Amino acid sequence: MNTALKECSELDEALAGAESRFAAANPKSRARHERAAGVLPAGHSRQTLYYAPFPLTIAGGKGCRITDLDGHEYLNLVGDYAAGLFGQGCEALQCAALGAMQAGISLSGPNAYEVEFAEYISKRVPSMEQLRFCNSGSEACLFATLVARHATKRPKILVFNGCYHGGFMIYGAVDPPLSVPFPLVKAEYNDIEATRAILRANATDIAAVLVEPVMGSGGAIPATPDFLNMLREETRKLGVVLIFDEVMTSRMAPGGVQGLRGIRPDMTTLGKFWGGGFAFGAFGGSRELMRHFDVRNGGLLSQAGTFNNNVITMATGLVGARDVYSPEACVRLNALGDQLREQLNELGRTRNVAFQATGLGGVLNTHWNSGPITNPGVVVPVNAPVRRLFQLEMFERGYYVAQRGMINLSLPMQQNDLAGFVGAVHDYLTRYATLLRA
Ligand SMILES: Cc1ncc(COP(=O)(O)O)c(C=O)c1O
Repeated sequence: MNTALKECSELDEALAGAESRFAAANPKSRARHERAAGVLPAGHSRQTLYYAPFPLTIAGGKGCRITDLDGHEYLNLVGDYAAGLFGQGCEALQCAALGAMQAGISLSGPNAYEVEFAEYISKRVPSMEQLRFCNSGSEACLFATLVARHATKRPKILVFNGCYHGGFMIYGAVDPPLSVPFPLVKAEYNDIEATRAILRANATDIAAVLVEPVMGSGGAIPATPDFLNMLREETRKLGVVLIFDEVMTSRMAPGGVQGLRGIRPDMTTLGKFWGGGFAFGAFGGSRELMRHFDVRNGGLLSQAGTFNNNVITMATGLVGARDVYSPEACVRLNALGDQLREQLNELGRTRNVAFQATGLGGVLNTHWNSGPITNPGVVVPVNAPVRRLFQLEMFERGYYVAQRGMINLSLPMQQNDLAGFVGAVHDYLTRYATLLRA
């Protein structure tokens, strides 16, 4: 057998072993998944939560740890794909949610919390001079894009391969069947010259450039400041609306990545942590754009949504952002993430394995590649077995990680929690070094 084939079959063997240990250790999760598959296609309601051979069912948690149905405890490094910023059992959030419930839900009118929350958001993210609430980041991106099309009377949206803007707006070489049928122009993330040329060539048709200032689901890949600056300059010149999708990235700095980079987009979308653990979305921007919703003054856009201003989210979101994820807490957590990224990268270098972590602050993604990662196109496709083996081996060591390599820190985490994880990765890279180098 040649060496590559031998390494391949060793990898398959290692994975088969890890999968059978996983199945033996998790009979309750397995049974739960099989039952769920009877009524929920593939046994779930959210694509990112599924992985082979079956996902663990999570019974509960405390702080930054969660426990599965079979009683294993993990450090939760999935962090609900960036939304689980507060971890479990945050008293301030519990009090806010309970207080709102006790004061009355489904009040059927504007409520006392929403103005204060909107004012706070606008103060922290000043490009959102005015905003509207909705129920998810997906909705926020959809609304923002529709506003841009309405305001400019142009049809097309410029998006980037690998960017994710919600369940109906996932962009890559092939768009999934469930996609909003917007006419699109696509460009490569961080490719300044090509994107500038595409923008200029299509300027009269393009309503908006929709971009994540750090690509999240696509692999935690930061946009370079030069790339974002170019987008700002060109869109301004061409009358195109620049939308920053900060649903994920707004946790990376007190005023989002736009604050960190000193760039003011025309519109911004928010989601995830801003709801304090509850369903949340918001979109907003300049008064000039948002005036289209002001039906008192001739605006033609109406925005409906039964739960847009639901009291639980409004009350809890405000407390979460203002009192818990204060600018100081935000800076501390993101510094912890930068430190973890550096430690993981150091491991890849010293173990001489093509392994690295990308991202910004407390949002990271591990990649089984060496060399700079500037867009998803430069990521060498890695065997699914490599990623699956890593996940299962981390589970066995008590670390709950996503199969795609995404890691999101939460506020209860301390340095020693992350030191334990770095130790587990070190152990893994040492054990499988020969396989991984192959
Ligand atoms: C950048 C970005 N935009 C939009 C969304 C969609 O948000 P939601 O899942 O709340 O619909 C996500 C969710 O992961 C996201 O990461």
